[in-house]
Amino acid sequence: MQSVVKAASVGQLAKASCLGVPANTALPAAAVAGPAKTYKKDGVLTSGSMSRLLPGKEGQMRIMSGISVGTQVRSIHAGNVDVPDFSYYRRSATKDPTSDNKSSIENRNAFSYVMAGTLGVSGAYTAKALVNQFVSSWSASQDVLALAKIEIKLADIPEGKNMTFKWRGKPLFIRHRTAEEIERERAIDASTLRDPQTDEDRVQQAEWLVILGVCTHLGCVPIANAGEFGGYYCPCHGSHYDASGRIRKGPAPLNLEVPVHEFMDEGTLIVG
Ligand code: FES
Repeated sequence: MQSVVKAASVGQLAKASCLGVPANTALPAAAVAGPAKTYKKDGVLTSGSMSRLLPGKEGQMRIMSGISVGTQVRSIHAGNVDVPDFSYYRRSATKDPTSDNKSSIENRNAFSYVMAGTLGVSGAYTAKALVNQFVSSWSASQDVLALAKIEIKLADIPEGKNMTFKWRGKPLFIRHRTAEEIERERAIDASTLRDPQTDEDRVQQAEWLVILGVCTHLGCVPIANAGEFGGYYCPCHGSHYDASGRIRKGPAPLNLEVPVHEFMDEGTLIVG
């Protein structure tokens, strides 16, 4: 009944002749061939007013509904309704009303599969692009990445000197150690140290020490080539570090931090 009301509300379809028939049955020939009776929309159509318009016993159409009762109302156009021509949009294989369903199923299936496949691929591609953009928005921007690494020409640092660079807002010490310094630090028994670490564990190439110039006590910047152990001295509270950056005396609890670094072939050091 809802479909009838909906169709009638369209306007011109309200002029169709109507007849209630049981579900799944063919229309009576008399009804199809009989004279058309026109019902015009008069005011707002409701299911009740529609049922009074429909022909039936005592002028009322009786509609039964329920779980096991099928209800069907068919509107029979009597030639007085302009039906749009959708032929342009229909597949050629289905235009002939006498052709059966099976004869065109391959044609229609192919179209459905191609459409489903195309939409699936384009949908997956779009989803991938969206996820990629979303995840990449979390990563560091180019200007931050540029500051994340520092490249140092080792040839600019003479032997026995310590040079300080600024890296990620912190002082970075690069020390070109002499042979005596290397020999001295490697002779130390690591087990006697407060923060036991061998010199080999702290350097990748014996002559180059790469450490952060941040005292592990309270963060002061130690002075290079000073202190009792010939390495670094923190004047804030008197911590002494050796030429491997290991804490040897004073309140600092840990060795100076060794950042991630890599030596390149052409005498370049990359830190970060
Ligand atoms: Fe360096 Fe206290 S901050 S010893």
